[in-house]
Amino acid sequence: MVREEYKIKNQGKIINIGVIGCGYWGPKLVRNFLSLPNCRVKKVSDLKAGRLEFIRKEFPTVETTRDYREILKDKSINAVVIATPVTTHRELAEEAMFLGKHVFVEKPMAYSTEEAEFMVSTAEKLGKKLAVGHVFQFAPAVRKIKELIRKKVIGKVLHITSTRINLGPPETEVDVIWDLGPHDFSIVLYLLGDTPWKIQSNRNEYPFGAFNGTGSKNKNKLTNNAHIDLSFKSGITSHIHLGWLSSNKVRLMQVFGTEGTLVYDEMLALDGKLKLYGLGIDNRIKSKDGDSGALSYKAGEITMIPLEQHEPLRLECQEFINSIIEDKVPVNDGKIGLEVVRLLETSSESFNRN
Ligand SMILES: NC(=O)c1ccc[n+]([C@@H]2O[C@H](COP(=O)([O-])OP(=O)(O)OC[C@H]3O[C@@H](n4cnc5c(N)ncnc54)[C@H](O)[C@@H]3O)[C@@H](O)[C@H]2O)c1
Repeated sequence: MVREEYKIKNQGKIINIGVIGCGYWGPKLVRNFLSLPNCRVKKVSDLKAGRLEFIRKEFPTVETTRDYREILKDKSINAVVIATPVTTHRELAEEAMFLGKHVFVEKPMAYSTEEAEFMVSTAEKLGKKLAVGHVFQFAPAVRKIKELIRKKVIGKVLHITSTRINLGPPETEVDVIWDLGPHDFSIVLYLLGDTPWKIQSNRNEYPFGAFNGTGSKNKNKLTNNAHIDLSFKSGITSHIHLGWLSSNKVRLMQVFGTEGTLVYDEMLALDGKLKLYGLGIDNRIKSKDGDSGALSYKAGEITMIPLEQHEPLRLECQEFINSIIEDKVPVNDGKIGLEVVRLLETSSESFNRN
């Protein structure tokens, strides 16, 4: 049965897409786009023959090519999905839009604010949809947190913390901020509907590979541990810890409000991922001089928040297809992609100025 959130209007329309880049993440996008009722994955491109062989084996209906221009030249293809390294995003996206394609580009959208601004203005000028792979905007827990914030279940939001640490990738062109930061930045911007006015960051460049045991081939000194503080004009603050040093994978976000705390642990099963902690019970606060009982404080009531079961990546792919069919702006559009790149760049500059 097609779930409610996957149903889309204009059931008759089919969007043909091409996917450029099929390394680690590309095949996941191919699988999810193929699962949608209004989308056909026509062609996939990668520079490496082995990756294309894998695609042909896994998805026999999909054509493959080593030359991405074959996708761009194909007039029957309406949209292009880009899952190549970030340094190539801008050029591929621009070329695709100039050849009439809508574009879904993986995170981070680009390698500089200037590039991202150019992509957004090109999409606007050419009337093309531009969506960015911010998959956590579609995670059931993140959507629920946004709803609970809107309903003021935890009162006024004061502070958000996020820890995203794991082992580093075996090979990488970018540091931990550009690798993991897009997730937290896109979640915080989405939750608060605001962009920070101030960023402070602190980084470490521990000998790369020494801690993660992956034997990285990348000998450059890259930031592999970072603490970033965001301040919003509303007074809300956020602290983000990103790291590649931990063999204990952690994905923990906490939203602290005046009337409670939301704790989101992405590593737990769906029924335990999101908890609401009520205000604590503290009999010290109203104790009088004559009270002779024990003084104590304890945590408030803990409520498990039920979440809908859906694959975030599938919803994200559906959002892109819907945005084309229904001519609407996707929630993960180029503008939020641009803001995320701005934060990544500013975090790096903040480091450079120490
Ligand atoms: N949303 C997420 O959670 C998530 C997770 C992982 C990666 N990503 C993003 O996806 C993108 C790709 O990451 P990855 O881990 O799959 O990298 P990868 O290195 O495993 O794969 C990239 C592939 O792109 C191919 N490629 C490069 N230039 C090409 C070109 N001109 N034409 C055709 N193919 C080309 C390479 O041959 C390679 O196979 C990055 O932007 C990354 O940040 C997103």
